[in-house]
Amino acid sequence: MASLHELLHLVARWVHLIAGIMWIGNSMLFNWLDRNLEPVPERPGAVGENWMIHSGGFYQVVKLIPAPGALPKTLHWFKWQNGITWLSGIALLGLVYHLGGAAIMVDAQVAAITGGRAIGIGMGAIVASWVLYDVIWRSPLGKHPTLATLASALEVFLLSVLLFHSLSGRAAYMHVGVMIGTIMTGNVWFVIMPAQRELVAATSEWRKQRPERGYQAKQRSVHNNYLTFPLLFIMISNHFPTTFGNAHDAAVLLVLAAGSMGIRHLMNIRFTYPGWLTWALALFGATCVAMLVFFAHPAGFSPARGPSIAGHVGWSDVEPIVARRCVPCHARHPTNPAVTTAPNGVTFEERDTVYRWRERIRLRVVELRNMPLGNATGITDDERARIGAWIDQGARD
Ligand code: HEC
Repeated sequence: MASLHELLHLVARWVHLIAGIMWIGNSMLFNWLDRNLEPVPERPGAVGENWMIHSGGFYQVVKLIPAPGALPKTLHWFKWQNGITWLSGIALLGLVYHLGGAAIMVDAQVAAITGGRAIGIGMGAIVASWVLYDVIWRSPLGKHPTLATLASALEVFLLSVLLFHSLSGRAAYMHVGVMIGTIMTGNVWFVIMPAQRELVAATSEWRKQRPERGYQAKQRSVHNNYLTFPLLFIMISNHFPTTFGNAHDAAVLLVLAAGSMGIRHLMNIRFTYPGWLTWALALFGATCVAMLVFFAHPAGFSPARGPSIAGHVGWSDVEPIVARRCVPCHARHPTNPAVTTAPNGVTFEERDTVYRWRERIRLRVVELRNMPLGNATGITDDERARIGAWIDQGARD
C-alpha cells in the first residue's frame, strides 16, 4: 500500500508539473502577445499583429475578430492544460494532505482540531474563495474594478487568516495556493471559455459579438496573470521550512505575495512605462530585505523560549535522543510505518551524519520545531534543548 501511494504521488506530481508548465507558459505567452500587438490597419477585423522568430523560422500572429461567417476549419483551444493542472493538484492535495488522517494538516500548537475538521476547513475555504470572488465580479461592484479588486483581495486574505489559525503552517500555505489555483481555474472554465464559445457561436451564426463578454474574459485572464507569481512560490514553498515553519509564517507569505504581484505588475507595464525597471529592482530589493529579516529570526523576534541547559552536553547525551526520536524515520530501513525510505535520503544512524547535518538539525528541531515530523516520536522540550546545546558547544564528544 505504501508503495502504491508513493507511485500515485509520483505520477500526480509529475503530471501536475508538466501540465502546469504548459498552462502558465501559454498564459504568459498570450499575455505577452496582447501587450506587443502592432496595428495592421490594412486588414479588416485585425486587432493587431506580432512578428516573432523561434524554432528556425518567423511567426506572424494576427489577433482578429473575424467577420461573421469567417471561421477557420481548425481552431485550437487551450483549456486542458489548466484543467489537468487543477485536477492533478486536487489529487495531490488528497494524497499528500488528506490521507493518513490528515496528520500533516494538524498542528496542536495552532489549533487542537481533528484531521477531519482540518480537511473540512481546508475544502470549505477553497470553495468559498471561488464563490465569493465570482460573486464580487458579477455583482454591480464588478463595474468598479478598483473596488472589486480590493474586495477580492480582502476575501482571500480573510480566508487565509482562517487557514493560518486552523492548520499547520505548511498546510495553510498549500491551501492558500489551492484557493488561488481554483480561482484561476474557475476563471478559465466559467468565464473565459463561455465567452470564447459565445464568440465562436456569434461568428458562425453571422451575428455581431457582444464586446462585454470579451472584455470580461480579458479581465479574468489578467487576474490570472497577476496570481501566477504567488501561486508558483507556494508550489515550491514545501522545500523552504523557514517560510511555512517561520513563527511569522503568514507575514512571510503576505510579503512574498504582495512583492511578487507588484513585480508582475511592473513587468506588465514595461512596454509603456519607462521607469518600470527601477521600481521593479527597488521592490525586489525591499522584498529580499524583508525575507532576510524573517529568515534570520525563524523562531520569532523574541529570544527562543525553552529550558536552558547548563553544563557540558556530549554525544553520549545526544545519541539516545536521536536513536529514539529520529532514527525510527531517518534510517536506511525505517521502522516508522509512515515512511518507506529515509526522508530526503537523510539517515541519522551514524554520528558522522548527525554531525554533518547539525546546522539543519538545529534549524528544524530547535528553532522551527517542525521536526520530528508532527512530533511523531514525542520529543520533549528538554531533549530539543539538549540537541541545541550540543550543537552550540561544537557538536563534539
Ligand atoms: C515521523 C518521521 C520523522 C521523524 C521521527 C523525524 N523526521 Fe526528520 N524528516 C522527516 C521527513 C518526512 C522529512 C522530509 C520533509 C521535510 O523536510 O519536512 C524530514 C526532513 C528532515 C530534515 C531536513 C533534511 C533536508 O533535506 O533539509 C532534517 C534535518 C531532519 N528531518 C531532522 C530530524 C531529526 C534531527 C529528527 C529527530 C529529532 C527527525 N528528523 C525526526 C520525517 C521524520
